[in-house]
Amino acid sequence: MNKKTLGPGITFFPQPATWIVSVDKEGEIDVMTASWVSMVSKTPPTIALSLHHGRQTYANIQQSGVFTVNIIPSTQVVAGDYCGLISGRDVDKLATTDLTPVAALHVAAPILAESPLNLECRVINTVVIGEYRLILGEVLEIHIAAAACHDHGYDAAVIDPLVYLGGIREYWGLGEKVGTAYSIGKELLPK
Ligand SMILES: Cc1cc2nc3c(=O)[nH]c(=O)nc-3n(C[C@H](O)[C@H](O)[C@H](O)COP(=O)(O)O)c2cc1C
Repeated sequence: MNKKTLGPGITFFPQPATWIVSVDKEGEIDVMTASWVSMVSKTPPTIALSLHHGRQTYANIQQSGVFTVNIIPSTQVVAGDYCGLISGRDVDKLATTDLTPVAALHVAAPILAESPLNLECRVINTVVIGEYRLILGEVLEIHIAAAACHDHGYDAAVIDPLVYLGGIREYWGLGEKVGTAYSIGKELLPK
């Protein structure tokens, strides 16, 4: 494969497209789009989220110590992008988008009805990275669309996650399944 170099930067994909939902001291709800989000530990289940320190979402999470991570389905690409363009400081994004907050089980921040996969999280650590804050959140609960559940697992086509291509600023769909993880690689094991 012939290569070109890009130098230091943020071109890296795919990334998940998520709505981070948070609440301030008065219980006002904010929704922010974030793609710098990744599961980073299984035991305990922990997710990492990187937020610019100026985000309203960061202020809310600092106050409340909790947030929810909501996978954006590809059908919600417009509302997904919108929540990444405007701050909750200036506009009520729930009202503009018609997204529906639903009470979470363990945290004050709600989950979103329009998202098929939601994580309830509690902050366990924050790391300063220049202008960004890497927030580590323990996953307290997971909600998944019942329609995506079948006997052997979950149907990713029903979840239909929006995929973000960082650096080139494009949204894509998930595409086709090409293999089963922790399994298809066994083809290269000695017979
Ligand atoms: C696709 C996409 C991904 C984004 N990912 C992040 C991210 O991971 N971290 C971040 O701080 N901002 C990210 N942003 C920018 C914020 O969503 C944006 O600044 C937003 O207006 C902040 O809202 P708030 O002030 O209500 O929290 C992203 C924006 C888009 C469109």
